[in-house]
Amino acid sequence: MCYTIVSMNILAIESSCDETAAAVIKDGSEVLSNIISSQVEIHARYGGVVPEVAARSHIEVIIPVIEQALSEAGVGWGEIDAIAVTKGPGLIGSLLIGVMTARELAITKNKPLIGVNHIWAHAFASFLTETKPEYPFLALTVSGGHTTLSLYKDDLTREVIGETLDDAAGEAFDKVAKLIGLPYPGGPAISKAADSGDETAYKFPLANLGRDSFDFSFSGLKTAVLRQVQEITGVNPGAIDNKKTYSLDNKVVADISASFQKAAVDALLKQTQKAYLQYKPKALVVGGGVACNKYLREKMTEIIPNAIFVPPILCTDNAAMIGALAYKMYENKQFTDPYELRADSSLEEN
Ligand code: KG4
Ligand code: ZN
Repeated sequence: MCYTIVSMNILAIESSCDETAAAVIKDGSEVLSNIISSQVEIHARYGGVVPEVAARSHIEVIIPVIEQALSEAGVGWGEIDAIAVTKGPGLIGSLLIGVMTARELAITKNKPLIGVNHIWAHAFASFLTETKPEYPFLALTVSGGHTTLSLYKDDLTREVIGETLDDAAGEAFDKVAKLIGLPYPGGPAISKAADSGDETAYKFPLANLGRDSFDFSFSGLKTAVLRQVQEITGVNPGAIDNKKTYSLDNKVVADISASFQKAAVDALLKQTQKAYLQYKPKALVVGGGVACNKYLREKMTEIIPNAIFVPPILCTDNAAMIGALAYKMYENKQFTDPYELRADSSLEEN
């Protein structure tokens, strides 16, 4: 008997924020290439992402990044079965570069086009690892723009059960880092500084949103750090944004970092554990940029030992995760006419 093994490749493109990325994913599970061109150094000068600068940088590198993804994967256009692109949410100028490029390629190369939701895709990065989650699974997606607890019921059905009411977890790391004089992006800098700090040095509050809520709130925590910095430095509230008006010694920076990191992670653990106990999912997937945080990984594993963590390279923004979700959409023929696909900065739909 003769079996034919049919495999398929998706070229995925991601440009929703400050990473220009392209990847080739085989059969929804194998990463043939994963190219990420980061603009972090450019935006670090401004202490955060500048949308216009991000869009311009995407234009400059998107074609070379796609070409590199194809060449590293060792595939030509003839072996690409579909093109996938992040259609939202994200910065509109950044999204447009990816969407317009993908539309044009889909038309000129005559490929089906799949528009992907960036937030849903973060947890799908787990399908590119050894331990693939079984449905239904709970996902904690923690990034610079979003903090979401969702139930993934099958390939196409997902439900948000909790989200941040104000700042995203990563945004809180970034803002607190800026306050205490650490560079952008704040997450890795705070995590490093926290290694030599005392997490009990300062008591920062945990938001109490009620017993039945799976939501998050980080603005109170951020304000508590701000007040603490004001108390230590004696700088008045109006001047606190101007870094030159004060400086903190290394010990204080380390202690604030450790105490803040503990408070932020405790908030994530509390809501995730509550949701896990209530919904009894088959797995927990933790993804998004903040999921790189090693303290979060350690503490989450203590309370949910079989938690699946997306590998760090697939936690921060990348196109491989877009390809992983696009594969499920491809199987279900969820294509969009390339003349119709629109970027949507506040996309909520599946
Ligand atoms: O997923 P991502 O690359 O972009 C968005 O979709 O937002 O996440 C970036 C965020 C930034 O806020 C960054 O500070 C945070 O992830 N981050 C971390 C760590 N590494 C990145 N936060 C805490 N600890 C880390 N090790
Ligand atoms: Zn992201």
